[in-house]
Amino acid sequence: MVKILIFGCTGLVGKVLIDLIKARNFNCTHITLVASVKSKGKKIKVKNIEYEVISAIDSLKIIDLDIIFFCSSATLAKKYCPLYLKNNENCFIIDNSSYYRLNDSVDIIIPPVNKELLKMGKRIISNSNCTTAGLIMAIYKLNDFGIKKMIITSFQSVSGSGYSGLNQLIREQQDNVIENPEYCKQIHNNIIPLIGSLNSENITSEEEKLIYETRKILKNNNIKVIATCVRVPIDFCHSLSVNITFNNDVLIKDIRERIESQEELILINDDIITPIDIKDKHEVFVCRLRKDNCLKNTYSMFIIFNNLFRGASLNSIQIAEGLLKEYFNN
Ligand SMILES: NC(=O)c1ccc[n+]([C@@H]2O[C@H](COP(=O)([O-])OP(=O)(O)OC[C@H]3O[C@@H](n4cnc5c(N)ncnc54)[C@H](OP(=O)(O)O)[C@@H]3O)[C@@H](O)[C@H]2O)c1
Repeated sequence: MVKILIFGCTGLVGKVLIDLIKARNFNCTHITLVASVKSKGKKIKVKNIEYEVISAIDSLKIIDLDIIFFCSSATLAKKYCPLYLKNNENCFIIDNSSYYRLNDSVDIIIPPVNKELLKMGKRIISNSNCTTAGLIMAIYKLNDFGIKKMIITSFQSVSGSGYSGLNQLIREQQDNVIENPEYCKQIHNNIIPLIGSLNSENITSEEEKLIYETRKILKNNNIKVIATCVRVPIDFCHSLSVNITFNNDVLIKDIRERIESQEELILINDDIITPIDIKDKHEVFVCRLRKDNCLKNTYSMFIIFNNLFRGASLNSIQIAEGLLKEYFNN
């Protein structure tokens, strides 16, 4: 039985994580809940026990934590994770922010595809960006055929930006004025072809993350990835249109077989699916798989998944369940 801490327990990722801890009966003896000072003192019930939310500073006094779920910004991960590691000699940190992902020595783990990396015993484990997580689930086994290039367009829900994105959409739908909007443009009845900040080559930080993390997880820096990430006015679920070129010809039946053999990935052959259809599902879905008749050795597909499950909270809890098995005799 382990002692856990959830940093960002009142955010979208933190709240879904708490729901999953209850639903999956995650084996822990004590939970420390951390949020900003504005949430300090709030009471949250987890598995019949009421816990009081404390501030980050107060949580630094704790010295016997086993697993920390970090569900807040990269800036706060940079500030607090090293302090938790210093104070809690043997603890593991599962980071949902982008802070540790860019560190070459930290593994990005998506349990259905690469949970064996947990055996390495590294104390910091990174979740991927939510968009990368859905993409990797769909194409991981196709990498055996030799992926040469991918052209990706993402359609990302506002919950991907946390509470502030969701609030902007809701307030705009109600015709309310927003004082500090999350997005540079209206999102209600609109789409925004910019997520994050632009670099000198007109590529956004979200697109950079998708490209870097995909190559890192697939352990192949030669894959060409061209990405356009777009914010769309829906509450939950991210979608991706992916055009994928292989080094050699591959039969569509072999692609189907690989997709169908991946756990937690569902191929829809004769129908389409939409975000509303799969909002409550944990799996990643692929539909519209088809040969590209213009380009050699190329296929197209459409991927949909709930960003808060596969892209964040579900992924975190699966990593933690793996740690329990590997290091806590559970
Ligand atoms: N949303 C997604 O789909 C998704 C997917 C993958 C990864 N992520 C990443 O996961 C992280 C959390 O995302 P989110 O969507 O849950 O964000 P969010 O809804 O904005 O929640 C942020 C959380 O951080 C807490 N917080 C803010 N300042 C704090 C401080 N100074 N000390 C302690 N806690 C503080 C907030 O507490 P208060 O409520 O008290 O302000 C809240 O609990 C981010 O790094 C995000 O990029 C998100």
